[in-house]
Formats: sequence, structure tokens, C-alpha cells
Amino acid sequence: SGFPSLLKNGLSKIGVPSGVLEILFKGVDDVEDYPKIPEAKGAIHAIRSEAFFIPLYELYLTYGGIFRLTFGPKSFLIVSDPSIAKHILKDNSKAYSKGILAEILDFVMGKGLIPADGEIWRIRRRAIVPALHQKYVAAMISLFGLATDRLCQKLDDAATDGEDVEMESLFSRLTLDIIGKAVFNYDFDSLTNDTGIVEAVYTVLREAEDRSVSPIPTWEIPIWKDLSPRQRKVTEALKLINDVLDDLIATCKRMVEEEELQFSDEYMNEQDPSILHFLLASGDDVSSKQLRDDLMTMLIAGHETSAALLTWTFYLLSKEPSVVSKLQDEVDFVLGDRFPTIDDMKKLKYTTRVINESLRLYPQPPVLIRRSIENDVLGKYPIKSYLPFGGGPRKCVGDMFASFETVVAVAMLVRRFNFQMALGAPPVEMTTGATIHTTQGLKMTVTRRMKPPIIPEINMEGLKMEGTARILEAE
Ligand code: HEM
Repeated sequence: SGFPSLLKNGLSKIGVPSGVLEILFKGVDDVEDYPKIPEAKGAIHAIRSEAFFIPLYELYLTYGGIFRLTFGPKSFLIVSDPSIAKHILKDNSKAYSKGILAEILDFVMGKGLIPADGEIWRIRRRAIVPALHQKYVAAMISLFGLATDRLCQKLDDAATDGEDVEMESLFSRLTLDIIGKAVFNYDFDSLTNDTGIVEAVYTVLREAEDRSVSPIPTWEIPIWKDLSPRQRKVTEALKLINDVLDDLIATCKRMVEEEELQFSDEYMNEQDPSILHFLLASGDDVSSKQLRDDLMTMLIAGHETSAALLTWTFYLLSKEPSVVSKLQDEVDFVLGDRFPTIDDMKKLKYTTRVINESLRLYPQPPVLIRRSIENDVLGKYPIKSYLPFGGGPRKCVGDMFASFETVVAVAMLVRRFNFQMALGAPPVEMTTGATIHTTQGLKMTVTRRMKPPIIPEINMEGLKMEGTARILEAE
């Protein structure tokens, strides 16, 4: 060992207390006792235009599964090694916080479940996870079906008119409509309308994404915050969304007060199966600011992620006609003309595998961020893992929700339509915000499949519905 250790030993011998030595030599012995982490040289250029995980990937090829990258005063460890990732996310997760991500997202998510750390996170996780129980997920499958059916009708019009469609924005609207209903029983109806509230959600979302890739936090400069038209727009958008959320919380509270139903594990109000309703009925004792932060967090977490997953799935499918045929065979066989139900989820095996493969190739979000808050050893053991919804205690709470949501959407869309890249469509390239976006949209041509499907009969009772059980084989 080198000079710092000698000095530390020496000081210890002349009676300097060990606590003081720990503080003085914090970080020093780690460097002495373990091999040095490789340091990537050279700045990353054009981080705003290119998807930043591409240069990170190139550096990984040069420097390996763990290396250090320094931007000015900030230093990051870039970890790609699966065993080290598992160690950070799961085995020793308590040594890490959300760090810079929580700071960047504070303006929109506050202390919501994604940025929250420590005690607040533990309490909120325990309150929220039970809301996504089996019966809730089953009700959500009906919701996914109804929402995707609205998208099908839109695509049907486009197919009739021979108009190309931009699927990335349509998927974003589909998943916004779904998550609004699912989390706080609000129908954005963004597939049909462009209301102020929909625009406000996108304003806030774009701002969150821009901030997460912006090197200089101009929004923190006090005068700028008040003068910049863009920041004023963000403030107004946030106010509008918060007002709507406050209204929804108040309405839901009144509903819960008038309700006869006793709260139990699989509690669900059929008229309003939302997570908000569950939380209020459970007697969740929480400030309205915290509740709003959690709702806003889920609104954003469950919206762009699923949309990005669907976008890249359809992009990949456009290049694999044989996969599409197999997919359509499975969907015809399992669903026929019915709306999907929870029992279909385990039968739609190939569809689920298509979704999983898309998430493996285009992970959302592509980069997970942590801040080290105590000393830790990052060893290397050869364990293979892929982390589609994160891992460990901070794993995504909406993993099953999102898998089923995207399985239903893919199944219902490929059942009725064929999708091809539109003639003269712009090249599909990646860029990153929080999730992987395309640079210029996913312009596709939709055509109806030859066999005209029979529109399912819906028995609307709250969200419950029964399709006519007609399997194609029987026709
Ligand atoms: C966390 C992915 C859909 C709510 C996460 C994480 C990932 C992820 C990777 C971990 C982040 C980290 O470790 O830093 C996805 C993907 C989705 C999806 C790919 C869709 C395809 C949803 C949905 C919801 C949701 C639909 C809400 C119902 C959350 C929440 C967390 C989270 C609340 C934070 C959990 C915690 O920190 O304890 N998600 N998610 N996500 N996700 Fe999702």
C-alpha cells in the first residue's frame, strides 16, 4: 500500500482517534486496496442530439463493464456489467439513492415514488403496491381493450382514406388515455381531443426530458425562471395539472365517503377501479401534496415507457414479416374477435415474447441512475441478467400492468391491420429523453387485413365487458 496508508498508520500510532482518521482518509484506502476503476478519456459530444447511450455503449466496448466518466465537476461511474448492476440495484440497494434524477424531476414529481428515497419511499411503496392487485389488473385489461379499440377505429379511418399515420404520437396518446383512467379515473380522451390538459401534460413531460439531458440547469437561475416564456409555460402547465389532480382527489374522497363497500385486500370499486380510489379507500394517511406527487409520478412513469415500447415493437415488426404472420396466427387463434381478458394473457405467449424482445433491444428507460451514498465494493461475478423493469426493491410497480397493456394493444392492432413503413417515411433513428424516442416519428401505412373482423359486442357496465366469444377456427 502507498503513502496515504503509511500516513494513516502513523497518525493512528500517535493517537489520532480512528473516527477522525476515517473522515480524513475517506475514499483513500478504497483506491489503495482495490484495483483502480478505468477512466474514460475525452468528452462526449453531441449528447443532446444523439441517443446518449450510443456513445456510452462505445465507451463500454473500450473500457469494459465499469468505468469512470467525468464532466467538469461531475463524475459518473458507468456500469454495464450485469453482476455489478444487480449488486447496486438489489443486493446493496440501501447504499444508493436516486440522486441527480430526483433533483431534476423535483419540479414535477416532488417526493413521488420514483424520486423518493429512504423512509418516504418505503412508506409510499407499501401503500401503492397493494393497489395493483390481481383484480385491478384484470379490470385494467378491459380498459386496455377499450382504449386500443378507439385507436383501431382511428386507424380504420386512415386505412379507408389511404392516409399514413404517425404511430409514435398515436401510441403516446393511447397510453396517456389508459394511464389517466388507471391511476386517477380521468379520461384524457387524447386520441380524439387536444384539450388544454393534454397539452399541459406534454409540456411538462417535454420539460422533464429536456432537463434530464441538459448540461446546464438554466431553470434554476432565479430571474430566468420568471422571465423565460418557456419556464412560464411550464409553471402554468403544472398549475393546470395540479388543479385537475386536486379536483379528482376531492371528487374521489366524496365517492369513498358515500361508499358502503368495506376495504379489504382485493378492494376495488367497479365504477372507479383507479389506484387513487384504492389509496383513499385504504385510509392512506398522506398529505395531499404527497398524494399528488405519487399520482403525477405514475402518470409520467406509465405513459411514455409503454408508448416507447409499442413504438419500437412496431418498428421492429415492420422489418420482420414472418414474425408478424406468426403473431397474427396466435392472436386469431387465441382471441378471434373477442376483447382480450386476463386469461388470454398467459395464452398470448408469442405476443408476450415479441414484447419482451422489443424491451430487451430498446430498454425503457435506457439508462438507470443512482447516486452512491455510502462506501461499497463493486466486484465482478459473471451473472447474466436483463433488467426490463429495473430490479431489486426499486423495481417498476407497473411491470405486469405494462406487459398486459402492450400485449393487448399489439394483439388487437395486428389482428385488424397490417403495418408497413410508409413510402418516403423519414429514417427511424433514436434520440433520448427519459425513454428512447424516434428523431422524426414512426410514419407507417396501415391497411386492413383481408379478413374483415367482426366488431365485438361490448356490454358496458363500468369497465366490465363481455365480447361475443367467437373463435376464428369455428367460422
Ligand atoms: C420504476 C420501466 C410502466 C410505475 C421503473 C423502473 C423501470 C421501469 C426500469 C426502475 C427505475 C430505476 O430503477 O431507476 C417501466 C417500463 C414500463 C413501465 C419499461 C412500460 C413498458 C409503468 C407503469 C407504471 C409504472 C404502467 C404505473 C402504473 C413505476 C413506478 C416506479 C417505476 C412508480 C418506481 C418504483 C420505486 O422506485 O419503488 N419502471 N415502467 N411503470 N415504475 Fe415503471
